[in-house]
Amino acid sequence: MGISAQIESSIQNSSMIRKMFEEGDRRRQLYGNDKVFDFSIGNPVFEPPPEVKQNLLKLIQSDEKGTHRYMPNSGYPATRRYIAGMLNRETGLPFGENDIIMTIGAGGALNVIFKTLLNPGDEVIVFKPYFLEYNAYVSNYGGQIRPVDTREDFQLDFDALEKAISGKTKAVLINSPNNPTGVVYSEADLVRLGRLLQQKSSEWGQPISLISDEPYRKIVYEKPSPSIFPCYDHALVATSYSKDLAMPGERIGYIAISPSHGDHGLVTAGAVLALRILGFVNAPALMQRLLPLVGDACVDITPYRINRDLLYNHLTSTGFSCVKPGGAFYLFPRSPIPDDVAFIEAAQQLNLLMVPGSGFGMPGYFRLCYCFETEMIERSLPLFTELARQFHLTD
Ligand SMILES: Cc1ncc(COP(=O)(O)O)c(C=O)c1O
Repeated sequence: MGISAQIESSIQNSSMIRKMFEEGDRRRQLYGNDKVFDFSIGNPVFEPPPEVKQNLLKLIQSDEKGTHRYMPNSGYPATRRYIAGMLNRETGLPFGENDIIMTIGAGGALNVIFKTLLNPGDEVIVFKPYFLEYNAYVSNYGGQIRPVDTREDFQLDFDALEKAISGKTKAVLINSPNNPTGVVYSEADLVRLGRLLQQKSSEWGQPISLISDEPYRKIVYEKPSPSIFPCYDHALVATSYSKDLAMPGERIGYIAISPSHGDHGLVTAGAVLALRILGFVNAPALMQRLLPLVGDACVDITPYRINRDLLYNHLTSTGFSCVKPGGAFYLFPRSPIPDDVAFIEAAQQLNLLMVPGSGFGMPGYFRLCYCFETEMIERSLPLFTELARQFHLTD
């Protein structure tokens, strides 16, 4: 074939999920949009907060010259100063504009970080279940993910983590609030994680970076999601406004590097270079200028909480087993049969579209997104009752 062997094999490996999406489209055509309940993709149906549109209009109508040109690769200084100030107020650490690099979403941020940090053969520890793209983002730069088990409630298992760390470990990647489980790590666990990484870095004679992928950080229901920066020095955050401003199509995010990071200057310079040579060049100018204008704006998460409660209560009352999410907009229940793909196929027959846990490195489970209109979720509930009946979860 005329394409890379690695991409060709990745296409084959992703064929299961692609087939599911194709089946979803087929069913929508056959039965109509309102009869097919698509819980498979985390693409919020809600519009960005009103101040986003108002400020975008102001920016577009402004007569200021040069606003569509290249700027420093790391982004506009004013935007980076704004984000640094926010982190400074939150953590008490002396963040400055040079600690912030504007990126093409969190996906772009992670690729820049791995390009900067990884040598071929380096390992990045991820926790099961994990966001599918991590595998690609790490192997893009010759690294390998090392998936580590979590506890029954998907919280960190420190014994498993300790056993997995070796001389090959370059970084540990966490994601809280989590896709696909919705779990949020506590401050006590982050402090413990920081201590363990400090100890292991000393034992192996090389610093292990802690990377926190946090595009869902503002989407939390009961408790906030604490910052990693006060817990560990060699820390980097990759994040975006895709989810909290409900604008994943606009691709704006950033990397924040801890001012206490031992290799601070080198990592920052490396990441700016990586951003350039990966061809991203810089994050979108308009979106960068928008951020200081909208401040702490966030989509109203009330519908997400209502949806979480509706689905969680219904699934658990019909016999499904599920950990209650503390954030993000996903549920990750256990499949009633070990073969999660067969289970998903059975759900499809009822026009319920979901993703098997195998897609997140954790067979035996399935993922549901609930960033949709509550009315659609309410209409879908009888189908989950029927699914539970078919799998003998209820009488
Ligand atoms: C855990 C996680 N990380 C990163 C991303 C990528 O986000 P972005 O759209 O900001 O690139 C996503 C998107 O769904 C995600 O769920």
